[in-house]
Amino acid sequence: MKLLGTMRIEEDTLYIGGVSTKELAKEYSTPLYVIDEQHVRNVCREYLRNFKVKENGNRVTYAGKAFLPLEMCKIINEEGLCLDVVSGGELYTAYKSGFPMEKVLFHGNNKTIEEIKMGISLGVGRFVADNFYELNTINEFAKKENKVVNVYIRITPGIEAHTHDYIKTGQIDSKFGFTLINDGVVNAVKEILKLENIKLMGLHAHIGSQIFDVDPFVDEVEVMFNIMNDVRSKLGIELPELDLGGGFGIYYTKEDKPKNPKVFCDAILNKAEEMSKKLEYPMPKLIIEPGRSIIGNAGTTLYTVGSIKEIPEVRKYISVDGGMTDNIRPSLYRADYECAIANKMNCKEEELVTVAGKCCESGDILISDAKLPKVESGDILAVATTGAYGYSMSSNYNKIPRPAVVMVKDGNSRVVCKRQSYEDLLASEII
Ligand code: LLP
Repeated sequence: MKLLGTMRIEEDTLYIGGVSTKELAKEYSTPLYVIDEQHVRNVCREYLRNFKVKENGNRVTYAGKAFLPLEMCKIINEEGLCLDVVSGGELYTAYKSGFPMEKVLFHGNNKTIEEIKMGISLGVGRFVADNFYELNTINEFAKKENKVVNVYIRITPGIEAHTHDYIKTGQIDSKFGFTLINDGVVNAVKEILKLENIKLMGLHAHIGSQIFDVDPFVDEVEVMFNIMNDVRSKLGIELPELDLGGGFGIYYTKEDKPKNPKVFCDAILNKAEEMSKKLEYPMPKLIIEPGRSIIGNAGTTLYTVGSIKEIPEVRKYISVDGGMTDNIRPSLYRADYECAIANKMNCKEEELVTVAGKCCESGDILISDAKLPKVESGDILAVATTGAYGYSMSSNYNKIPRPAVVMVKDGNSRVVCKRQSYEDLLASEII
């Protein structure tokens, strides 16, 4: 397992944030999400520096869907990032954490009327409007509150990227955003200009997630500038902001060759500069929305190994006390992870095992073919890079309580989300 962030090995044990994972498992029990706070803060700073936030007024907006406890909102705010939320629940979390509402961007392809009202009355900084229905609803409620709401419109730019490959198409099939076909964007802008309680601040696009190449982002910048230019030439308005979404890829296993934030930021900023000059378009403020790349590598899940089943000449299963309820990604996307025995970090990796979860479901396999030292019941298994879309996509399937989340930093640990109790599981049930 590759050591990430502040991970270190002392004697035989994995340490994160200066804290022994053996001690963490003992103190807080397992399964346990461990978040390397310093690593989160370092990545935030790397993005802010490289995206020229201070110099150019650009913004780095953390995509909260990756991981959004109250404490994460606090850290993101302390580091000076903005926040992207996609639901009333995420917005409420941000609000309760004291996050400045003017730094919140409200996404979603089908915000409910309740969510729109909530966003307007709390005063979120920008709505990303996805369709006409939403624009009209925002306008209607903004009018009732006597407000003018800042809006981006989401565009499907005809670039779709997944990890290593991407496609550029004229044809666009997506549930998100306004289409480029038949002058769709220009017509949308034309309509928005009639809405008195909406101020159009810019365009938004998001081309995918876990992308390793810079080329799709560079193409995205080009496409979006060309659209802004088209809008200018047909309607005579220049847009002051351009949001390019998130999607920067990170390391999960040796197959992944991620680039650091500087490479993506430089490529985007350089292309924007080039397009701005070429089209003589005033440089808009640029926004990116990284989620996974801020929190992914900072998270490690600790499990305790329970039963071990060896089927001679076939496979050896080691089962842990969590699984698809705390990390759905292997079952849902066949996502790969690296792992280690946290209390045997210096032992030779000598056996190939399959790490199974505890759910009543044969697909509940966390890692197939993990190379580990000789595993025994009671060992602590650490699975790395579970920070993004782990806790946020967790469930109570099989009525398994959600694990606690602990932040570690400088040798100290603190719980930021309590482990659910059986009582918590029944809290919303009526008999
Ligand atoms: N902005 C928008 C509009 C998005 O839709 C997303 C992710 C992001 C930003 C952040 O993308 P990131 O930097 O985290 O790649 N559940 C999946 C990932 C879904 C991503 C959805 N949108 C997974 O576990 O891989």
